[in-house]
Amino acid sequence: MAISMKTVLLAADHGGVILKNTLKSYLRQQGYTVSDLGTDSSASVDYPDFAKRLVNGLTADAYGILICGTGIGMSIRANRDPKVRAALCTSVEMARLAREHNDANVLCLGGRIIEPSLAATIVDTFLQTAFTGEERHVRRITKLS
Ligand code: RB5
Repeated sequence: MAISMKTVLLAADHGGVILKNTLKSYLRQQGYTVSDLGTDSSASVDYPDFAKRLVNGLTADAYGILICGTGIGMSIRANRDPKVRAALCTSVEMARLAREHNDANVLCLGGRIIEPSLAATIVDTFLQTAFTGEERHVRRITKLS
């Protein structure tokens, strides 16, 4: 049973749709409430449209997961919104530090970069790791805006 039970918003472009669907099933099995914002097929779409959809729906009691081919385009778009701290992660260590140091609220993944099993472990780590709340990290996050 997961410790954190925040709602998870998921969105992807065609480069991330397979991984998104895999993670949706995985997270629902873990007991998370998951909101799937598309895309739903392999037809080519524009990643900024789906990043925008997720960012617009993101609330303080939710995490977001954005997936495109590399995760790069999604992270660029997501971080244009001041309430978003999106972290493109390719390792479990990056996911842990994104939460502990950056209090990231959106995880970006590359559907063409990482294997589904690693992606699931990265997602677990991201969702289950708390922000440390240490003064230096709060200070640095405050300076982002
Ligand atoms: C789409 O081909 C690809 O550019 C997109 O999925 C993503 O990798 C962009 O950053």
